[in-house]
Amino acid sequence: MLSEKAGLFSNLSAEEKRRLLERMLREKDKKREKDSTTLESAFEFPPEYAGYRKKLETTGEEGVGDLFYRSFEGVNTRHALIDGVKAINFCSYNYLDLSGDERVGAAAKAAIETDGTSVSASRLVSGERPVHAALESALARWIGVDAALAFVGGYGTNEDVIGHLMGAGDLILYDSLIHASVQQGARLSGATVIPFPHNNPQALESILQRRRAQARHALIVVEGVYSMDGDIPDLPALVEIKQRHQALLMVDEAHSMGVIGATGKGLSQYAGVPPRSVDLWMGTLSKTFASCGGYIAGSQDMVSYLRHTAPGFVFSVGLAPPLAAAALAALQILEEQPQRVAVLHARALLFHTLARTAGLDVGVASPESAIVPIMVGESEKAARLSRALLKKGVLALPIGFPAVPENKARLRFFLSSAHTEEDIRSAVKALAAESAA
Ligand SMILES: Cc1ncc(COP(=O)(O)O)c(C=O)c1O
Repeated sequence: MLSEKAGLFSNLSAEEKRRLLERMLREKDKKREKDSTTLESAFEFPPEYAGYRKKLETTGEEGVGDLFYRSFEGVNTRHALIDGVKAINFCSYNYLDLSGDERVGAAAKAAIETDGTSVSASRLVSGERPVHAALESALARWIGVDAALAFVGGYGTNEDVIGHLMGAGDLILYDSLIHASVQQGARLSGATVIPFPHNNPQALESILQRRRAQARHALIVVEGVYSMDGDIPDLPALVEIKQRHQALLMVDEAHSMGVIGATGKGLSQYAGVPPRSVDLWMGTLSKTFASCGGYIAGSQDMVSYLRHTAPGFVFSVGLAPPLAAAALAALQILEEQPQRVAVLHARALLFHTLARTAGLDVGVASPESAIVPIMVGESEKAARLSRALLKKGVLALPIGFPAVPENKARLRFFLSSAHTEEDIRSAVKALAAESAA
């Protein structure tokens, strides 16, 4: 066939060959054009993405590319090492310094030896291992409820559980500053979603008065400590409201577990409210528990229902053995060493007190939380302050619009039991000097 075509080609005159080649090239161009149109029309990036991407990929005053997605070396703890530069690190959620702990690492390594790096199947099928049950019963006992269920991600836990439990005809009310994973789960559920003003139980009450009767189920979602502002909800008021309106109450303890309460048991201990008053305790394994994953803890009935029906649990792989073992070891250390929590409380209080004394604006943050926002105003100003602090050996990242409202940009300081008093004093000193500059 090919030689036949070659034969025909050789019979053509020079002019005919030139025209044929031109036609072939035109057709090739047309095909290329068509392919690229097909690709472009298959997916259109949102128009605002171009600006967002440019900002993240540009360094210096024009962007924030030098502040985010930087490559860190080593364990995310007291010090950060970036491009060989060492700084006191206020950007880690390693609240009790358990990521990097020898016993946690040893437990993860031992689990790899016994069960491998992955269970390679849903727990329903062949992925169930003794370490899963050990972790879940330890979590339930620690939190003070019947049972717990471990998922492979914290974000996915909220998305899956909320999206699964609620549906059309139901009502979800979440705090207006709730984490993106809760918002996404609520959107996917098909329920009516109404955010209520931040930390305002009265506003929640009035929405329920107007809307509860029309809904089949109602779910209220709050956080134990809010990650942008470092403040804490009024749990007794929320429990009273949820009981009166026959609603479920879910608390996301990502930033409160291991942090607030005398021995780090989270919001129920902090507020002196029995843990069984809350229907769904959600938490992540990636912060205090030095691992990766999420959990739901609550009544036996609720946990069994999720174990048998939550799609992100049933149709997803079981938690990797080293991750389950690391979280379990971290929980055991937390139980044995409440002094870690006491040190974290002391460091958080010292930071709050020094910052306030220096005239810095910590917004509505509670001195008991390990998150201290320093309110700055414009996003550019927060980025400038972050760069100036890094030059003085202090790492704290800015957060601006759209994560927080316009003109409410801030630098967030995440404290850890690994910080020394000296770390806190020198950081606040540098912060005060640079804020005044
Ligand atoms: C309040 C809150 N919930 C859920 C998550 C998701 O947890 P993970 O990062 O472990 O997926 C985060 C993460 O930062 C969070 O801050």
